[in-house]
Amino acid sequence: AQTVTQAQPEMSVQEAETATLDCTFDTSDSNYYLFWYKQPPSGEMVLIIRQEAFKQENATNNRFSVNFQKAGKSFSLRISDSRLEDAAMYFCALREAQ
Ligand SMILES: *[C@@H]1O[C@H](CO)[C@@H](O)[C@H](O)[C@H]1NC(C)=O
Repeated sequence: AQTVTQAQPEMSVQEAETATLDCTFDTSDSNYYLFWYKQPPSGEMVLIIRQEAFKQENATNNRFSVNFQKAGKSFSLRISDSRLEDAAMYFCALREAQ
């Protein structure tokens, strides 16, 4: 069994500022992947970042980075230098590896 929880309903950010989106997760598996997806108003789901549970570094992708706390079971997304095109729904996801 696994869960992800995103408690922030909505946030507004000024252009060029940094936004942090929180996600907590729970899984009984030790081997898993975490993801952040972006869904812009046009509707498609875009994978923006993927973190492997055993990676010793936080994943990054251009202006996107994560703060993965394995023991604390949190996986927040950080969007730096915010732009208008970042306006979207963001979804945190977990997949167990086996
Ligand atoms: C991610 O970065 C945070 C803050 O620097 C750090 O506490 C955490 O251990 C890092 N996680 C990984 C998997 O390196």
